Amino acid sequence: MSKVSSIVNSIKMSAVSSISIEASQKNWKDTISMAGGEPQFSPPAAVNDAFKEIVAKGFNKYSPFPGYTSLLEKIRAKLSDFNNIQVDLEQIYTVPGGSSALFTALMALIDRGDEVLIQDPCWEHYSEIINLLGGIPKKVKMVKDSNGHLRIDKNILEQSITSKTTVLLLNTPLNPTGSVLSIEEINEVVEVVEENDIHLIVDEEYEGFVFNPFQHISPASIYPKAITLYSFSKTFALTGLRIGYIVAPKDVISAVRKVSLYSFMYASSPSQYVAEAVLSEHHIDFAKKACDEMYNKSRFLSNSLQSIPGVVCEEAEAGLYVNPNFIKFGKTGNEMSRVLFEKYHLLSVPGEVAGANGANSIRLYVGLEQEILEEAVNRIESATKKFTFD
Ligand SMILES: Cc1ncc(COP(=O)(O)O)c(C=O)c1O
Repeated sequence: MSKVSSIVNSIKMSAVSSISIEASQKNWKDTISMAGGEPQFSPPAAVNDAFKEIVAKGFNKYSPFPGYTSLLEKIRAKLSDFNNIQVDLEQIYTVPGGSSALFTALMALIDRGDEVLIQDPCWEHYSEIINLLGGIPKKVKMVKDSNGHLRIDKNILEQSITSKTTVLLLNTPLNPTGSVLSIEEINEVVEVVEENDIHLIVDEEYEGFVFNPFQHISPASIYPKAITLYSFSKTFALTGLRIGYIVAPKDVISAVRKVSLYSFMYASSPSQYVAEAVLSEHHIDFAKKACDEMYNKSRFLSNSLQSIPGVVCEEAEAGLYVNPNFIKFGKTGNEMSRVLFEKYHLLSVPGEVAGANGANSIRLYVGLEQEILEEAVNRIESATKKFTFD
């Protein structure tokens, strides 16, 4: 085998990509894929016209580094209207999607050997992005409060900080559980990062999908030093467009600019043009409708799974996933995910990849057609009927 970077060599493929590749080799006709998180609804209508206009309007050319000013202005208005964040245009930097926002922001901030705190549970990509950059991911176990809300515990957070910690990376709403940060948690987090002089990065990829009565609160709305990452992928069903943005203090944006200069250069001009068209329409109404649809699917799935004897499936506060737990059957998430894959052709993500907090559960994407969701519930019920529980 030819030599590749030892860092890259040590990086794992994600559970979603591994199971999807395995499934594609099986050629089953009845596969149900609930492993990824790709919205199926149509994107905003403005997208179609925008795509047709790209060349005529000259958006096949190089772009200014942070993005076109007209798009940055639209993003600034969205940040003010939806996130209650007030910033100058120079504090916004467009990038090729939320994944690139994570990579770029972390690369701009961390040195080799720096510790980056992440939630347990969290998106499995976080650890590997940090590893790729030579950093050290460190999980901070979240705990349930008396209302069953999975929250950040101030003591555990403080105890996780060492002299090498430079960043706390949070995700709200949280992939996989859908937990949203409350104002109390945000206040505590801000106290801790200020006292310890560490950066706070907040990934708000799922900001569009927060279910009543929960509210999406952007930490940057009360803590302007927070670095926030956004994407058009999920809210607008534009996963293929690869467009997102980083919002940060100007000194951080200067570092982001250097990373962008020597990596992707700038976000794709055509994608920026389409993104601007999306924000020029009634994008908040569009997002609300999409959220309502996901709420119904999420509740259908969690209620149906909860009614299977032995399965525990809590209602999500937000997001695109539910996380049924199989502990009563003595099954790990890995075992359950394997059985569902091999015998029932249903793709899921084992909870363990999100951290110890995910043990005994699997993550299921909720945004499929109703009849497919019903079939998925039937297959999970059939699988559990073969097990016993106390
Ligand atoms: C928590 C989280 N952040 C970021 C991303 C990145 O998505 P994208 O690069 O499509 O914006 C994802 C994708 O699933 C995610 O779950």
